[in-house]
Amino acid sequence: MAETAARRQPNPYRPGFNQAPLVFAGREEILDAAGEALEVAAFDGRTPRPLILVGPRGVGKTVTLGQIAQIAAVQHAWPTVHVEAAAHGMTETLSARLRTARGLLEGWDPADRPRRRTKITGAKVQAQAFGFGGGIEVERDPTEPARDLGTELRETMTTAMKRGAGLLLTLDELQNAAPAELHALGGVLQEGVPEGWPLVTAIAALPSLRGKRGGRLPTYLERAEWHTLDTLPSSDARAALSGPAERSHRPMSAEAVEALLALSGGYPYAIQVAGHFAWRASHGSDVITVEHARAAEPRIAADLDQLFLSRWEDASPREREYLAALAAAELSHPAPNGGHVAAVLDERVTAVSYLRDRLMKKGTIYRDGTGGLRFITPGMGEWVRRTAEQR
Ligand SMILES: Nc1ncnc2c1ncn2[C@@H]1O[C@H](COP(=O)(O)OP(=O)(O)OP(=O)(O)O)[C@@H](O)[C@H]1O
Ligand SMILES: [Mg+2]
Repeated sequence: MAETAARRQPNPYRPGFNQAPLVFAGREEILDAAGEALEVAAFDGRTPRPLILVGPRGVGKTVTLGQIAQIAAVQHAWPTVHVEAAAHGMTETLSARLRTARGLLEGWDPADRPRRRTKITGAKVQAQAFGFGGGIEVERDPTEPARDLGTELRETMTTAMKRGAGLLLTLDELQNAAPAELHALGGVLQEGVPEGWPLVTAIAALPSLRGKRGGRLPTYLERAEWHTLDTLPSSDARAALSGPAERSHRPMSAEAVEALLALSGGYPYAIQVAGHFAWRASHGSDVITVEHARAAEPRIAADLDQLFLSRWEDASPREREYLAALAAAELSHPAPNGGHVAAVLDERVTAVSYLRDRLMKKGTIYRDGTGGLRFITPGMGEWVRRTAEQR
């Protein structure tokens, strides 16, 4: 009987992108900064600088935005307007969602505001109360003409203030936005600063957004509070690995945690993959042992390989040579620059810089804050070295 119940237990790990983990580990510094920004906006009558989270793929930028939305809901009963930027149309989408938020806020009863996550990602508003999803339809006159972003934001903030509420704006994948739209956004947000709107803006982007600094990024965003996300330090990685199992009453042995940590290297995406397959391998047992972790290893490796393989296959033969040289250079420099890579290739920097630029444009590699080159997917360097060896 117990075995059947254990077998039916849902897997508590969330492998994949944009999947909120059951146990969100670490990132205290960012959550504290966001908590403070929300307090400043809610109580001090000031609009704080936007928060910008940058980091490679799969480190948890999107789910961290979700955690900030959770704080806004639980601490302040504020709704969140969320937009994922694409090459076009960010301004229109944002305007439309602000209008939806306004409709929602108009019906907001100051005495009985929902303390649950209210995320506006379309005309239908998703509200999550303690894990139960629900939808709130916002009445809107479809014939109402679309107004510009500045007007929409002003009217939404006026409504919010009347109701004693505020607004969290989360913008994801901002590196995709067209420069003109970034400038429009920066201008509109900056205009609101003297008004002291209860508005907090939290942005997530790949590190290439930094490249838009120095002219291409609006000053208002350039002067934002920047936070870099990378892999989790090992204590947080352990919590992310063992927490979901513990909560689901099938704890992981310390040895299993260490074995899985060695495979995932603190990379949040890989942690969820590792936990997922270890959980699967332990069906019927009431603990996850190191044997289960070892049995899951091939599945975990295959899943992560897929991630690297798709990037590799997207590269031309010359670009692959560059990637292999970068992976080799990593062995002697933690964040090699173009010069180190060119040295491995035995070429002049200028002769191979076009390869570096193409790979940066494709988003396979990026330049970190210190000018070093890195793979956008953590762990890819090691995979490339293994792949190169096998050929
Ligand atoms: N702090 C964390 N604790 C536990 N798991 C996490 C944490 N952060 C992220 N994850 C997990 O890592 C995976 C990737 O998260 P997410 O999609 O937010 O990454 P991302 O940085 O937004 O990636 P991309 O750049 O591709 O959009 C998800 O499975 C998520 O559950
Ligand atoms: Mg994301």
